[in-house]
Amino acid sequence: MARFLITSALPYINGIKHLGNLAGSMLPADVHARFRRLQGHEVLFLCATDEHGTPAELAAAEAGQDVRAYCDEQHLIQRAAGEGFRLSFDHFGRSSNPQNHALTQHFGERLEAAGLIEERVSKQVYSIDDGRFLPDRYVEGTCPHCAFERARGDQCDNCGRLLDPTDLKNPRSKISGSTNVEVRDTAHLFLKQPLMQDRIRAWVDAATEWPHLARSIAYKWLDEGLIDRAITRDLAWGVKVTKDGAVRPGFENKVYYVWFDAPIEYIAAGAEWAEATGSDWERWWRTDKGASDVTYIEFMGKDNVAFHTVSFPVTIMGSGEPWKLVDRLKAFNWVTWYGGKFSTSEKRGIFMDQALELLPSDYWRWYLMANAPESSDAAFTLEQFQQTVNADLANVFGNFVNRITRFCAAKFDSAVPTGGVAGDLEAKLAADVAARVAALTQHHEEMEFRKAAAELRALWAAGNEYLQVAAPWTAFKTDPAYAAVGVRTGLNLVALFAVLAQPFIPDAAGRVLDVLAVPADRRGWPAPATAALLDLLPQGHPIAPPDVLFAKIEDADVAAWTERFGGG
Ligand code: 2FM
Ligand code: ZN
Repeated sequence: MARFLITSALPYINGIKHLGNLAGSMLPADVHARFRRLQGHEVLFLCATDEHGTPAELAAAEAGQDVRAYCDEQHLIQRAAGEGFRLSFDHFGRSSNPQNHALTQHFGERLEAAGLIEERVSKQVYSIDDGRFLPDRYVEGTCPHCAFERARGDQCDNCGRLLDPTDLKNPRSKISGSTNVEVRDTAHLFLKQPLMQDRIRAWVDAATEWPHLARSIAYKWLDEGLIDRAITRDLAWGVKVTKDGAVRPGFENKVYYVWFDAPIEYIAAGAEWAEATGSDWERWWRTDKGASDVTYIEFMGKDNVAFHTVSFPVTIMGSGEPWKLVDRLKAFNWVTWYGGKFSTSEKRGIFMDQALELLPSDYWRWYLMANAPESSDAAFTLEQFQQTVNADLANVFGNFVNRITRFCAAKFDSAVPTGGVAGDLEAKLAADVAARVAALTQHHEEMEFRKAAAELRALWAAGNEYLQVAAPWTAFKTDPAYAAVGVRTGLNLVALFAVLAQPFIPDAAGRVLDVLAVPADRRGWPAPATAALLDLLPQGHPIAPPDVLFAKIEDADVAAWTERFGGG
């Protein structure tokens, strides 16, 4: 038995996530966590809402709420959506919790002690009416190059030039529109990343287990050269900056930058979990306290990779303490909505809460993983969703389960038939199944989700082919003993298929295992080489047909959803 620490990128707090966000980190992380648990390994699966930063403050202001109250509410909404999708987090934390504040301050102070922090004064636009410094994107004014009147502090959308907000003529606050602004001196902490460049590169060089996408992004950043990075901001909502345990002089109105504290929440979520359950989190996160035999796997979209291959490792390695570093990093491209962006305001795409109003989570889970954006972006279309669900779940898997369980109920008294002797056809099937289970296991271990889904689908199809040839419904009249073999084999295939489907479609798989009364100790992931793959159900074992597992998606559904969510 091994130990796996699994994390998913932390969804930002400003609103419920869409299906693309789900598919690019939380869902594959869940599938993998479930797979590893079924293999009998010890798993700690962590996630949290990422709650600090300007976007949270602004979203709260827009909602007319205090930022803490806003985050409290949104956290519960996101947690409920995660539960609806059966994301099996051991803990779903919050970066605004005290554990993250304490750890972030701890890292800040350790980095300073290691000589990696420098305090520097720079000039920044201050809005007197808003009573705050303005982040670059929240200053607007006239471009000094092309006289465009609505240039942003960081870039002019008219001439494309990169700008410094202090260059703008007639600057004004984007928050209030006020022109009562001035340039003031302000101090910030900078993390001297170049001092860690060689250590990070050596670490990436050694990370041969990372998939290609993750390593290539890391090298791109290293090759461009790391730069000193400001890790504080002029904001009220966030983690206070400390020195020797007290608020750092001159930093009374500042907090750590959200991208500094968010990754630390991965660790802090472990501390939250430990507090809630009375467990020990350091045996997962500190190599001096038992975590050296932990395999740490991170799941994230490609935009997060640089933070986890470069910036966050600078933080934790720079602390000089023995923190667990990521062993395997699975990165995803984007899921698009018909090739474009998901957007709430433009009514494009389906968000997590809406999806669950339409269909149970398994339908979405299967489609999103069977079409995971692994080697390139993947377009979500309702037509392809309909086609995949109907073909794979309704016709192949659902139909197989129904056909054989109903026949058993009708002709064999709802019990696994006894008698008859398996022949060549069953031997061939067993060999085929063993090879496919081995391939499926390997794809899961390598976190190749598309391949894993395709192999599972192929297994289901092989079961259908077997039944087609064995045809117990025909044999029943002429050779009842062979019909018994066919039904027994078919029922065992159903049990095996459900065991293997658990990571992807946990609800439907669980229902099948329940109606077959498969005991808990037979629901684990099978060792591929075992001869007992098709022997999960003893002869005489009572079974019942399940209700329809998957309803077909009708053309009328697709038409209605296209109307509601926008189509191609
Ligand atoms: O990209 C995002 O949505 C961020 N909220 C992810 C933060 S998690 C981690 F990468 F620090
Ligand atoms: Zn311009």
